[in-house]
Amino acid sequence: MERSVFFLDQKEMPTSWYNILPDLPVPLPAVLHPGTGKPVTPNDLARLFPMALIMQEFSPDRYIEIPEEIQDIYRTWRPTGLHRAFKLEKALGTPAKIFYKYEGTSPAGSHKPNTAIAQAYYNMKEGVKRLATETGAGQWGSALAYSCAMFGMELKVYMVKVSYNQKPYRRIMMETWGAKCVPSPSTDTKAGRDALALDPMCGGSLGLAISEAVEDAVTHDNTHYSLGSVLNHVLMHQTIIGLESMKQMEIAGYYPDILVGCVGGGSNFGGFAFPFIQDKITGKHKNLRCIAVEPQACPSLTKGLYEYDFGDVAGMTPLMKMHTLGHSFMPPPVHAGGLRYHGMSPIISHLYNLKLIEAKAVFQIPTFQAGVQFARTEGILPAPESCHAIRVAVDEALACKESGQSKVILFNLSGHGHFDLSSYDEYLSGRLADYQYPEENIKAALRTLPKIPA
Ligand SMILES: Cc1ncc(COP(=O)(O)O)c(C=O)c1O
Repeated sequence: MERSVFFLDQKEMPTSWYNILPDLPVPLPAVLHPGTGKPVTPNDLARLFPMALIMQEFSPDRYIEIPEEIQDIYRTWRPTGLHRAFKLEKALGTPAKIFYKYEGTSPAGSHKPNTAIAQAYYNMKEGVKRLATETGAGQWGSALAYSCAMFGMELKVYMVKVSYNQKPYRRIMMETWGAKCVPSPSTDTKAGRDALALDPMCGGSLGLAISEAVEDAVTHDNTHYSLGSVLNHVLMHQTIIGLESMKQMEIAGYYPDILVGCVGGGSNFGGFAFPFIQDKITGKHKNLRCIAVEPQACPSLTKGLYEYDFGDVAGMTPLMKMHTLGHSFMPPPVHAGGLRYHGMSPIISHLYNLKLIEAKAVFQIPTFQAGVQFARTEGILPAPESCHAIRVAVDEALACKESGQSKVILFNLSGHGHFDLSSYDEYLSGRLADYQYPEENIKAALRTLPKIPA
């Protein structure tokens, strides 16, 4: 009998996160203050985040210990399993060995609680009583709602309106954990009211919901802002995925040739891949390929520019050097709601620029097709976001079939799709259409990139 799931004992769960910053061969470009054009200081960020997270954002330390209270909550579902996809391999007829790390067993159903728990904890420790955040499809909002419930905190979630209407169950989940959730654009903030005045039918975007949540945080007492992706500390909290995967692949007796993960803001891919990329940087496994997969409808890595831009629509955040489609970019309502963000994590953008990672953009129909094939072989019904990783993992396995190579492919299955069944319904009934963002719209959004003060 060959083992198909590799578990770690709870005693073997990593007790530190991995910070890739000190291992980058070229330092990460500074985050800039939009008013002065100078690098931001920890104090500039103190209105939004607790100091512990701000220090992590810039930390030169390679490993940061996970506080015991966080480890304790992680143990509700961690370590997560790493699976060998024997049935998918057989269906594809590939000599490739396909493995996947499954993050869908967390209470919220995705990788997002790995950082949500940490962020709620550090805010609680600083005496903050309330958080404000945005959410796309609701995965992040529900992860933070669960985390705030764990630490007795209040939460207000601005949920992108198209998803709020398409996916009511995530809202109900957030409310069950005690959060307040409103559709964005909302009338609760100036950013939301301005957007509604321009277009009363506006379906919203992650960038706009971020503007609302940031405004909420700075206009309410005892409130901080919390972001589910993009920032360095968020990706660092997610490295528990990659650190566990390394131990599990060791038990399985293989080292991956190819890593695949989907990218919205970059947190699951970063957390999964960074510990392995350390091996690539040090030369221990210099031939490792790491592929970030994004939708053709929101192709920030493959079609965006590597420039300084705001993280939100209203231009309230600091300027980050990242691959961006322009902060005014309004993504079409494709079903992978969590991948509809105009920018990309500065670290992921930097690694892409240094050619340490690759990127691929895929259409939604073949993406769902791969997700359905996965569900019909491995049994797990993946989140539409995760289907992007499956698509490319399957394509790589099919390339192995052509070449006869038996490569080891490991992908991150970032979440389950139990609340995304309406998307599956559209795919299965043939109503889903492919969507490629028109080059002209990308060019128009890129013309709104901010000027950096001299
Ligand atoms: C299941 C799932 N995977 C992936 C993502 C993309 O986010 P990130 O790129 O930060 O991992 C999301 C975002 O909501 C998600 O819910």
